[in-house]
Amino acid sequence: MPTARRFLFAVLGILILAATTQAILAVETPQKQAFVRLDRVTASRPIPTGIEIHSGSAIMQITALRDDVLRVRVGAAGQLPEDASWAVLPESRTASVQVTPENSGAAVGFKTAKLHVTIHKDPLELHVTDLAGRVILEDFPSRPIEYHGNSFRVYLKSPADEHYFGLGDKPGPLDRRNEAFTDWNTDAFGWQESTDPIYKDIPYFITLRRGVAAGVFLDNTWRTSFDFNKEYRDAYSFGSENGPLDYYILYGPEPKQVVESWAWLTGKAPLPPLWSLGFQQSRYSYYPETEVRRIANRLRSEHIPSDVLWLDIDFQVKNRPFTVDPQTFPHFEQMVQDLKAEHFKTVVITDLHIANLPNAGYKPYDEGKAGDHFVKNPDGSIYTGVVWPGPAVFPDFTHKPSREWWGTLYSDFVKQGVAGFWNDMNEPSVFLVPSKTMPDDTVHRIEEPGFITRTAPHLEIHNIFGMQQTRGTYEGLLKLDPNSRPFVMTRASYAGGHRYAVTWSGDNSATWNHLRQTTPQLLNLGLSGFAMAGADVGGFAGSPQPELLTRWLQIAAFQPIDRDHTAKGTNPQEPWENGTPEDLNIRRRYIEERYRLLPYLYTTAEEMSRTGLPIIRPLFLEFPGDAGAAAAPVDPTIDNEFLLGRDILVANSPFPDEMDSYFVSLPSIGWYDYWTGARIEAATPHKAIDNTEAPPGVQEQRNLDTLPVFVRAGAIIPEQPLVQSTDEKPQGPLTLRVYPPIGFNKDCTGSLYLDDGTSFAYKKGDFLRQEFTCRLVDKGIVVMVAKPKGTFAPWWKLLQVEVYGASKPAVEASTAPLNGSAKALQISTAYDAEHHRVIALVPDTGSGLELQLTY
Ligand code: GLC
Repeated sequence: MPTARRFLFAVLGILILAATTQAILAVETPQKQAFVRLDRVTASRPIPTGIEIHSGSAIMQITALRDDVLRVRVGAAGQLPEDASWAVLPESRTASVQVTPENSGAAVGFKTAKLHVTIHKDPLELHVTDLAGRVILEDFPSRPIEYHGNSFRVYLKSPADEHYFGLGDKPGPLDRRNEAFTDWNTDAFGWQESTDPIYKDIPYFITLRRGVAAGVFLDNTWRTSFDFNKEYRDAYSFGSENGPLDYYILYGPEPKQVVESWAWLTGKAPLPPLWSLGFQQSRYSYYPETEVRRIANRLRSEHIPSDVLWLDIDFQVKNRPFTVDPQTFPHFEQMVQDLKAEHFKTVVITDLHIANLPNAGYKPYDEGKAGDHFVKNPDGSIYTGVVWPGPAVFPDFTHKPSREWWGTLYSDFVKQGVAGFWNDMNEPSVFLVPSKTMPDDTVHRIEEPGFITRTAPHLEIHNIFGMQQTRGTYEGLLKLDPNSRPFVMTRASYAGGHRYAVTWSGDNSATWNHLRQTTPQLLNLGLSGFAMAGADVGGFAGSPQPELLTRWLQIAAFQPIDRDHTAKGTNPQEPWENGTPEDLNIRRRYIEERYRLLPYLYTTAEEMSRTGLPIIRPLFLEFPGDAGAAAAPVDPTIDNEFLLGRDILVANSPFPDEMDSYFVSLPSIGWYDYWTGARIEAATPHKAIDNTEAPPGVQEQRNLDTLPVFVRAGAIIPEQPLVQSTDEKPQGPLTLRVYPPIGFNKDCTGSLYLDDGTSFAYKKGDFLRQEFTCRLVDKGIVVMVAKPKGTFAPWWKLLQVEVYGASKPAVEASTAPLNGSAKALQISTAYDAEHHRVIALVPDTGSGLELQLTY
């Protein structure tokens, strides 16, 4: 080749190389920008769905996805960040509505059918209000958005009476006010109330002020941070060290609307299998096989209703995921089948760290290596880190082919009849290094529809690593067994991860404070999308005193996931251990109550999967206290009480280790005692210590025998006869506990959802959905049972209608089917003075009925 042409080719080559390198660098490690401050609008332009603002070199785009959902995107160097998301559903991210531009000279903005967006030009300040003029979100004056290199921070005004909720599993009080947090998924064994960060990164919170709620979601997977009133008493702020400034604003005004918009944005948690609502027994670890069988037998012989047994890491060969130790579990498949015959589901742990075992016949390693599925070091070699199996390698979950390969690893377990899977240690946790995780510059690949195909440093992927693992597990299981609802439990995740897995609060401790902590933690997880969540019942680290285990089993009976779990080396923690026969009786009684409540619990879980509303709810979600609401406002920061579904209120002591009596706030709608059926007469306003009008409620004397539980007046709660597992068909009537409305509130409703509990047949109409209502009439009540919808056959033939708060027997009872025929149904009534109830037993014709009781 002549020298001139060679020279030309060489130059061309260098140019191409330089261009490619630059393109890669541009996304891989964003170039450091100088200090950028968005303090003044230098140009603006209305766009059909919002507005585009320029401030010097920076660009900001505010668009309306819906009339009540806004998205704010900012780019410091004049370009908006990559339009892609692991959390937000593509159909929601790309949704839009037309807006009406506004321009007053000093300010620009737009209006939707629900919101006003105003940007003051100088200084640049964003204000979002609703059409009634109530402030939803407002920039904090004199602290405009600033970039320092790649890091940025957004400051917003915080009125003194605004409260903040959400942010996933972070410990501490329900209200996030006066706290600051970092999102960086961390293996936090033995975390305490002030530990931050712990396992999950859900950069989303709800603001609530005077009954008006909004959601704020910073969609950024890098290390982010949130400050509520610590830096400035009257501001909150959020920011990140890198990555996109891309945030969403979800307007209520009702908190429930915000929660439902969050589900619209990031998806709903799937309908869980019914068995996952049963009692679950675990420990680190049950082995050998005979020990697992012993636990199963004991649960049955003690008549402790239960559904699930968990196998922790010791069932594997040297902690190697996807192996079974043939020494300790020689008949693994037979054991799983035998447990099934005893109505137990088996859930096994399958951690993501694949043992680094070349040439040893270890399939996950061999296949993963051959398929190039592992995360790499910057020099291209495979990254290894020490975890349970010793040196381990890690699947590259953001690389779609690797994620899909991971899903195939479950095929043997699925064939053997294992019902659910536990994805633990997926922060990812790495031992022996101070960072407790992979190095920041470990190289991941992003290959994903909607994203630019590229590599990314661990810093960008860290917080979504666990979420993408659970996605691989969930989607893999669906492929392996398309008609079974997958059950995956994860420890780490990111916003939207509730689409793939349920969660638990990690390695808590066997202390009273940790029991107390379960309520705010599970409530905030529910508000953040992870409604199917639980805490290790009894505590993971350490051993509970008997009374603590008893109390924990009582409270967990009303929480979404009820799983007793403890660490290696602790005392036995099953319900029959560590207590007196009286302790065992109490523990059994509460688990039994959970099983009686399964129709209500499952109906609430189905509502979650349809609407995003959490299974357990903070009081403010049902009683936000907005003007015009039926009930007076409640203190939104209450975090020793929670609602199970809409109607059942559980009130743990705010200081559960002390013997003192305590005050239970009861929203002023009228309540009944769940255990005695009596109306709560004390639910009237009283004077607080400072002589102000305190919210209504009752004083409860703490006693171990009874956890205070209340039912909202105007509720109809479906219950079933006791069973020992969810496999068992209940024998007897469906009970409808009717709690008549009290006072000005006339509403009285309930509902029931039922299906086969495991498959997707419900999607084709094979479910039963039934609505109940009641209305007070002169000296009595009329209960209406609507004709059920769907094709699923009920297990009952009789309805047992129990009307609570009754002080005398029914003197007259009549029923008629709803379908017009006047033929009265046979009915028998009884009066139970101890439980303040009139009971009527009526045949259920399946076409609905109306029952009138006079008492
Ligand atoms: C982690 C989990 C814990 C589990 C243990 C062994 O600490 O959080 O629940 O028992 O690992 O797998």
